[in-house]
Amino acid sequence: MTKVGKLGKLGILTGGGDAPGLNPAIKSVVYNAAEFGIECLGIYDGWQGLLDGYCEETMPLDPVTVRRWDRDGGTNIGSSRTNPFRLKPPGGGEPMDRSGEVLGNMDRLGLDALVVLGGEDTMGVAGKLAEMGAKIVGIPKTIDRDLWGTDYTLGFDTALINCTEIIDRSRTPAGSHHWVQVVEVMGRTVGHLALWSGVAGGAYLILIPEHKFRYDRVFELLEERHRRGARDRRYPRYAVIVVAEGAAAEHEDVVTIDQERDAFGHERLGGIGAVLSERIRKSTAYDSRAVTLGHPQRGGSPSPTDRVMGLLFGAEAVHAVIKGNFGKMVTVRGVAPACEFGTISLREVVGKISTVDVERWYNTERYHVKAKLVEP
Ligand code: F6P
Repeated sequence: MTKVGKLGKLGILTGGGDAPGLNPAIKSVVYNAAEFGIECLGIYDGWQGLLDGYCEETMPLDPVTVRRWDRDGGTNIGSSRTNPFRLKPPGGGEPMDRSGEVLGNMDRLGLDALVVLGGEDTMGVAGKLAEMGAKIVGIPKTIDRDLWGTDYTLGFDTALINCTEIIDRSRTPAGSHHWVQVVEVMGRTVGHLALWSGVAGGAYLILIPEHKFRYDRVFELLEERHRRGARDRRYPRYAVIVVAEGAAAEHEDVVTIDQERDAFGHERLGGIGAVLSERIRKSTAYDSRAVTLGHPQRGGSPSPTDRVMGLLFGAEAVHAVIKGNFGKMVTVRGVAPACEFGTISLREVVGKISTVDVERWYNTERYHVKAKLVEP
């Protein structure tokens, strides 16, 4: 065991939507920190856990406690979408900046540094706190895979597998009843999850936020498939469409669940699948059904890739802490084992997102990946 200078205690927190891969990363941070004689403390429920009234309760994390965590989905220390820079008072009213409490409580808990696991919002808060003097290292996590500066974000692979499984399962009812099955997947404003689960699940059409679709073109492509299936029984008489929750038709807005916005100003997306399905029923020869996959798509045990990447990201984060490389998020080029790790400034990560490269990957005529993969 190598003792490191002044670093005695490391806080760990997970922010934003949960994702498979967080627990393996936490395990790795704890194991690697222990090698250097650093103690770890789990902060409950993201940034909320560092506010007055919440930080009294924390979870000491040692290698024995986290030994089995690499098999667990979600996050065992809880998460929230708390923004300490814009926090609504419980009784309503103007949002308040409570970031001072976060810094004060880091001191009070004796935290020499903090490892935060999250997406753009969590990194945004981390970046601002780092500028105020906090010693923070970030680990990228989101099933959306939209974080800037890194090729991989924890949770993406498991979500991809989960979505693909449901797309596969929706094929048999659709095939038996000759209808169009619309499958709505998450991803916020990007289409990585929709595009690649659609490809893996053999969807006929894939609609992504990066390219506005036209209803008349969707109907045309469906009619083409319907005519062929009707003429020759060797061809399918059904279709699966994967639509990203953030996809929208030309001249139309994204479909939202309600008018609410979260603490970071994000709309609650959802409902485009049902709208599309209804229009297909009205405008084509097909009957249609829609399913919104919702939160279970980021549920369950982490895939091998998410376990491996979580463990490797955790180790990299501890290396950054040891080297005093604060105010950074660990990044990766490629995915294990063919990958290279690095770091990027937390402030650079914010305000930019990684979208599907439409030019490279998306066929805007056939609403599919740019490769001949499906029969018309
Ligand atoms: O960012 C991850 C994500 O699952 C998005 O794909 C989705 O739009 C959003 O979170 C859902 O938010 P919540 O978990 O707050 O319902």
